[in-house]
Amino acid sequence: MEKIVIYGKEKLEGSIKVSGMKNSALPIIFACLLIPEDCIIDNVPRVSDVSNALKILNSMGAKAEFCGQHSVIINTKNAKESIKETSLICQMRASSYLMGAMLSRFGSVEIPMPGGCNFGVRPLDLHLKGFSGLGAICEENDEKIKIFSNKKLKCNKIILDKISVGATINIVLASVFIDGVTVISNCAMEPHVEDLISFLNKCGACINRYGNVIICKGVKRLYGTKYKIFPDMIEALTYITYVGICKGSIDISGVNTQHLSNEIKLFRGMGFKIFEGQSRLRVVAEVINGADVVTSPYPCFPTDLHPQFAALLCYANGGGSIKELVFPTRFAYVKELEKMGACIKRHGNTVYIRDADLKGAMLDATDLRAGAALVAAALGAEGKSEINNVNYIVRGYENIVEKIANIGGKIKLIKGD
Ligand code: EPZ
Repeated sequence: MEKIVIYGKEKLEGSIKVSGMKNSALPIIFACLLIPEDCIIDNVPRVSDVSNALKILNSMGAKAEFCGQHSVIINTKNAKESIKETSLICQMRASSYLMGAMLSRFGSVEIPMPGGCNFGVRPLDLHLKGFSGLGAICEENDEKIKIFSNKKLKCNKIILDKISVGATINIVLASVFIDGVTVISNCAMEPHVEDLISFLNKCGACINRYGNVIICKGVKRLYGTKYKIFPDMIEALTYITYVGICKGSIDISGVNTQHLSNEIKLFRGMGFKIFEGQSRLRVVAEVINGADVVTSPYPCFPTDLHPQFAALLCYANGGGSIKELVFPTRFAYVKELEKMGACIKRHGNTVYIRDADLKGAMLDATDLRAGAALVAAALGAEGKSEINNVNYIVRGYENIVEKIANIGGKIKLIKGD
């Protein structure tokens, strides 16, 4: 089994370039099922979730491959409804986007229950309710989901009971070719939703967003295009927590600072010096004070930064707290930080953290962001840490070991036997 070995307490100095956003690349890759022509997508991160998404499309008869370091070419003209790579669907949440995409492309879909980071139950009821609102019939059991419609889907007004990135994306995908105007309210406003809408419109769709309302006017077909996806905002924010823990100064290039504006304000309030340039940040961390945050849908504090921020609070003067309102069970990282001597206590959906001197330990990543948090904690700890289940981390962070080593971190990847 591969593991990451880190010797902590090294100051970070240097530059990193942020990769393309995994959570944009995945819906855009599956959206290519709506486009029977070549689509070339740039700034795609080389992470395992992306490779798996391409493999799923290939197993349907589509052409889907990297044609450059960070560019993929996808043509789904010859894609068939049957998916051979079904085992990969169970490994990632983003394969749930096959539902909206295949409903639009084939009028029906039958897939195994999608997987995803294991921090508690991850229902799909909002997705299915949206599809039903468009006239589809949805059948699900523990193993699989089947969605079909005996007649053409009909435009409608869909109100999401809860803000959901995945449900918003899936209902948009299902609405692209529906005659008339479909209105989706209480939508997620994450940049990756914006990214998908921009991509689809560049292919000829007619989708507009007004705040948390998305209006989709059905079109007859979509056309191939060339598109560059947004930079990964969570990766950029993750590296800011790393330098906050290790102290030092790093340049982060390839960012969209607009997506980070609220977090930049928060970090400045904690003592970070952050200088904004054209798609770049210079981050200097000397004395960092703690903070209290509450996670909520964009543009509020992102749930995907929660575990990494908890690691930062372990080293910030006075510590702080994190109230988790999106995934109230994403706390598996707590027991791992406790192995390092962290002073962290969970009460319900909130963790309370006091700063402490952490020691390196043998650690197990339990999901993508928890894994990134263990890297953070290990970078600041005294001595050696070993992090197992690296597969969780590399599914969402491109070249994380090289990027950290290039800015002075003492880190290496030990290949498994
Ligand atoms: C996406 O997950 C991301 N995954 C997650 O990132 C991210 O944490 C999440 O959005 C929130 O930003 C991908 O983009 C692949 P939701 P998603 O639907 O779409 C509940 C990462 O680390 N809900 O916005 O699954 C749900 O349980 C991953 O990159 C329902 O109740 O998240 C949660 O409490 C982890 N019913 C809340 O809504 C549903 O049908 C928000 O979930 C759907 C969701």
